[in-house]
Amino acid sequence: MSTAPEIFDSLSYGPAPEEAGAVRAWLAAHDEGFPLFIGGEWRPSRQQSPPVPCLNPASGERLASLTQSCAQDVDDAVQSALAAFPAWSRSGAARARVLYALGRLIQKHSRFFAVLESLDNGKPIRETRDLDIPLAARHFTYHAGWAQIIGRELPDHEPLGVVGQIIPWNFPLLMLAWKIAPALAAGNCVVLKPAEDTSLTALFFAGLCADAGVPPGVVNILTGDGRVGELIVAHPAIAKIAFTGSTEVGRIIRRSTAGTGKSLTLELGGKSPFVVLEDADLDAAVEGLIDAIWFNQGQVCCAGSRLIVEESVLDALVRKIKTRLSHIRVGDPLDKAIDMGALISPSHRQRVQGFVAQAQAQGATVWQPEIPLPQQGAFFPPTLLTDVSPANIVWREEIFGPVLAATSFRTLEEAIELANNTRYGLAATLYTENINRALELAVKLKAGVVWINTTNQLDAACGFGGIRESGFGREGGFEGMLDYLRERDAWQEAPEVEVGAPTPVLVEPQPEFIDRTYKHYIGGRQCRPDGGRSYPVTDSRGRLLAWAASGNRKDIRDAVEAAFLAAKWGAATAHLRSQILFYIAENLALRRDELAARLGRLTGRKSARSRAEVAMAIERLFAYGGWADKYDGLVHTPPVRNIALAVPEPIGVVGVICPDEDPLLSFVSLLAPVIAMGNRCVIVPSERLPLPALDLCQVLETSDVPAGVVNIVTGERDALAETLARHEQVDCLWYFGSKGGSARVEEWSAASVKRTWVNHGRRRDWLSAQHGEGRTFLRQATQIKNIWLPYGDSP
Ligand code: NAI
Repeated sequence: MSTAPEIFDSLSYGPAPEEAGAVRAWLAAHDEGFPLFIGGEWRPSRQQSPPVPCLNPASGERLASLTQSCAQDVDDAVQSALAAFPAWSRSGAARARVLYALGRLIQKHSRFFAVLESLDNGKPIRETRDLDIPLAARHFTYHAGWAQIIGRELPDHEPLGVVGQIIPWNFPLLMLAWKIAPALAAGNCVVLKPAEDTSLTALFFAGLCADAGVPPGVVNILTGDGRVGELIVAHPAIAKIAFTGSTEVGRIIRRSTAGTGKSLTLELGGKSPFVVLEDADLDAAVEGLIDAIWFNQGQVCCAGSRLIVEESVLDALVRKIKTRLSHIRVGDPLDKAIDMGALISPSHRQRVQGFVAQAQAQGATVWQPEIPLPQQGAFFPPTLLTDVSPANIVWREEIFGPVLAATSFRTLEEAIELANNTRYGLAATLYTENINRALELAVKLKAGVVWINTTNQLDAACGFGGIRESGFGREGGFEGMLDYLRERDAWQEAPEVEVGAPTPVLVEPQPEFIDRTYKHYIGGRQCRPDGGRSYPVTDSRGRLLAWAASGNRKDIRDAVEAAFLAAKWGAATAHLRSQILFYIAENLALRRDELAARLGRLTGRKSARSRAEVAMAIERLFAYGGWADKYDGLVHTPPVRNIALAVPEPIGVVGVICPDEDPLLSFVSLLAPVIAMGNRCVIVPSERLPLPALDLCQVLETSDVPAGVVNIVTGERDALAETLARHEQVDCLWYFGSKGGSARVEEWSAASVKRTWVNHGRRRDWLSAQHGEGRTFLRQATQIKNIWLPYGDSP
């Protein structure tokens, strides 16, 4: 028997197991295996396959057998969803009632869900009870509100149709809620595949759908392994894929959806920094670290797995971490006094162990507390790695386990460099009591979410998602809603057009011939093409007008380098960017007649049409001058003492491939939003008619646009697009060309998980303000960073 002081010292509370009788009875009732949930009914698979075993990671016991879905099951589910879609998408108010009922039912069954989730996943009941399940309910009630007001708030948007959703095993019910709630609120129907390791809460949720009034076919749950995911991704009637999981599978999905027109959001891995400055409250930082990397056994995509500490407090912080870890309790996930449960599987534990061994071999010092660990099950101790160099494997690779790698820094610049030196960009945490340094870091850290003096905060009202190899798209909040909708936009229905074959050139120069070879415009200067080659530019009848530079890979690389170096543009004030856009517009207006005449010659159109194009180009520049300092963010109010600032940030270096139609106006309509939002660009004008864009160089030169912000490379559209798509320093690529080119751009971009915006060979009406301008362009030119700022109440 321990004495009271001993108990305080050891923090040992004795076993406090959660009652699991109801869950065990439910599992026993399904001992013969769980069928599939299709069209509001439980159905066996159309094809007999060996069942997928479902194991308890804390003990290895078999909990249940799952059905491996086949192609016919996927098609059945999609057809049910398609059939349910017209009625479901009609009334937002009706959807709101159903979503609210789902939220209430999750609350009502919260203890059951919490126990089932702990058994299935191995995470402590404390976490499922206090976080996973309440937050899942919150996603449904929050999105019930969206369903109610969506018609008024987003009248120009409509649901996509049937959405395929594929989720991982680390937050099984929460990920389901995170995916299903916004999709349904927007009016879509869903086919969801839970992870093969953790499908049980999804199946219990399916059983509640009828009680909540979910019409048959609106929600379909298909179990099975990655092959089922592949079938969902490949189904032609699915309009969108929402995926959370590994970067590797994210890439596969990007490749297989390329060119299909399916919309896609990817929430992938991370290697998030956790920065502690010397003025931080170190005890708070230690508690933050517990939540960052030892919560859910570190199996969290946004886990703060790289600790970056100011050198002066490194030793003190490491001491505190070790003391705290020595009191962590690892054990039976159903014990209410347990801090850490089991990893998802023995094979995953082996993987984590492998990383730790490699880290040690590469020079890291490994420390693990001397605490008891259960003999059976996939348990792994909390682990601290110090002396970790940036080249060490554990500094670069996502471990997905309770392993923290630590290093130190001396200056803030070094901290930022260390933090951003990763191919991921999901989340970042920073601890400091200095508001100036906090906000400076929050802006400079490259991540989709930044937590200041708090960590791993998640809420339905705040968009979550990453940049770079952490994926694209946001889940939750206003941004998340937009990712489940599309604009009601006539251009989307327009017939697909392939770019025509080049017009044959009549070699004899014509009277209008300008004896001039145009160059590229890179880093604020006219540059000869690297290959020394040019191509003829002809008028509408094929008569030679001038020569334009034939760009190659080297030209694109030079242009990207120039754009990369012009990073200051992103930090310039929106006011300044606005003034410069107005200035470009004014200078363009001075050359209105000359440009209209040039356009007339090139296109053979009536002069009134060319004048209209130039007038609209000027107007568009003025419009984005106006937008530049008015496309603001939002302030979210999640239900904790926190505000979250949703800040639209420039994406960085954006590649832009322009279409042939309206060669001046389309060029300006794509360039202006990109630079208005603080991006730098490498822009490829119309291949056939590049001259109006090249004429614009002189306007840019006289309009105070800093060198490198706009770089123009002419030449073969798709060859240049390929180099841009494959270039690691290009953060995003817009492509307005052929259908085939769009498909290739999406495929080429998969390697770096680059964000793309392609037209699938469809034309926009650039003269119309509705199709050629506005929030869609600005949204495509920005990425939202959510900065969380907690505050306390004074007594
Ligand atoms: P995974 O990415 O293989 O699985 C996630 C989901 O995708 C599961 O439902 C799986 O069945 C499905 N899937 C697998 N292959 C597919 C394919 N070709 N097409 C469509 N769907 C497919 O992740 P896994 O194997 O469970 O974990 C491996 C590593 O991935 C982890 O160690 C961790 O590093 C990372 N991971 C990251 C997560 C995150 O939240 N970012 C979540 C889970 C894993």
